Amino acid sequence: MSLVDAASLLRRAARGGWAVGAFNCNNMEILQAIIRAAEAENAPVIVQASQGAIKYAGLGYIAAMALHAARAARVPVAVHLDHGTSFEQVVRCVRAGFTSVMIDGSHLPLEENIALTQRVVEVARPVGVSVEAELGRIGGAEDDIRVRQREAFFTDPEEAARFVGETKVDSLAVAVGTVHGRYRGVPRLDFERLRRIRSLVDVPLVLHGSSGVPADAIREAIASGIAKVNIDTDIRQAFVTALRRALAEAPDEIDPRKVLGPARDAATDVIREKIRLFGSSGRAQEIREVVS
Ligand code: G3H
Ligand code: 13P
Ligand code: ZN
Repeated sequence: MSLVDAASLLRRAARGGWAVGAFNCNNMEILQAIIRAAEAENAPVIVQASQGAIKYAGLGYIAAMALHAARAARVPVAVHLDHGTSFEQVVRCVRAGFTSVMIDGSHLPLEENIALTQRVVEVARPVGVSVEAELGRIGGAEDDIRVRQREAFFTDPEEAARFVGETKVDSLAVAVGTVHGRYRGVPRLDFERLRRIRSLVDVPLVLHGSSGVPADAIREAIASGIAKVNIDTDIRQAFVTALRRALAEAPDEIDPRKVLGPARDAATDVIREKIRLFGSSGRAQEIREVVS
């Protein structure tokens, strides 16, 4: 029984100067890869379902698979909604048994983002579900925005302090130079801004779009206050590359398990590497001691 809420995990990580890996689960094999990697590293982990994953598999399948995986795991696992789009979707996920939700009101004017996030905290907190919100716009590599334009969407530290004070969220996703998906060049993070946010805000901070960010930058982000690191693209890339190779090596193979197995192994390897980079390797026991 190791299904846990995310807030206690993240507070512990933030205090210890390490981060919890939050890995997107797109199908059963990737979910198994996340759990296998976490168990091999004896690390706590967050399994998260994106909007695309929910659309692809259906919330019922995702919830049943992820909750089973978490309960059966030998390490602490939180099950999290990634980029929740509405109050109603959050309620559906809480009802399905998720232990953590993100409400992404980052596209809304500040007052509306605050009001929506407050509503979510109001329903989630009494039932022990953690809430992550987003301030600033993280966006995607595919959005054709120049870096200077993108900076206009970076999280404002003073606004972040007000946002957290008024919403009482458990964690905050910040825009400091990362984007979702594959980078065209090398991402440059605004660490100074991140540290300023850290000094004004007392909840754990979340880094989205962390695939493709060099290891040194990830380490510095964690040292500057990031306690949850989201990874999707790097897993997809490893999975599909291994799948392509398996298909090419055995063009007559018709058993899906024979080609999906190597893809699952490749995803496991990438996730293990990330867990070690985030410093969460070997942290399962200390988490068991602080969560119910
Ligand atoms: O939010 C980050 C995800 O990587 C986007 O995933 O295309 O499955 O919604 P999605
Ligand atoms: P990447 O796909 O860029 O790793 O981003 C993942 C993410 O932020 C999920 O919320
Ligand atoms: Zn994201």
